Amino acid sequence: MKIAIGNDHAAVDLKREIARYVESLGYEVINFGTDNNESCDYPIYGEKVGQAVAEGQADCGILICGTGVGVSLAANKVKGIRCGVCSDTTTARLIKEHNNANVIAFGARIVGAEKAKDIVKAYLEAEFQGGRHQSRVDMLSRMEESWSRSE
Ligand code: RB5
Repeated sequence: MKIAIGNDHAAVDLKREIARYVESLGYEVINFGTDNNESCDYPIYGEKVGQAVAEGQADCGILICGTGVGVSLAANKVKGIRCGVCSDTTTARLIKEHNNANVIAFGARIVGAEKAKDIVKAYLEAEFQGGRHQSRVDMLSRMEESWSRSE
């Protein structure tokens, strides 16, 4: 299973630690993030990870910026992406079980490395439950379709 990972300058160190952790769990990591601390634009990395997941280059994605919000907003602009910010393991599990999120985001200025690892593990190990949740996810897809048609 391939995991796309992306980050801005606020999350270089955490990205490296999370990438190593994800690899230690047996996943392949594709790095789309910046690897230096120079100020950069988070939308670039949110879009890169969103695109990799939407196009099937990766099975799911992990995005990190200062808060997790900027990269998640960018990823959600890519058609087919469902990304949410997770600062706890319960949300990380439910975002997959209920929302079938294909990208998760969190903030390097919000969660520490150990919490971030727990969040990632909870997300990767959870499974979408389908059923009533499928019809709600389908509603989101229909909204995405109708809003892109109304341009
Ligand atoms: C960068 O300073 C910061 O704005 C960015 O990492 C992120 O938190 C934006 O949502």
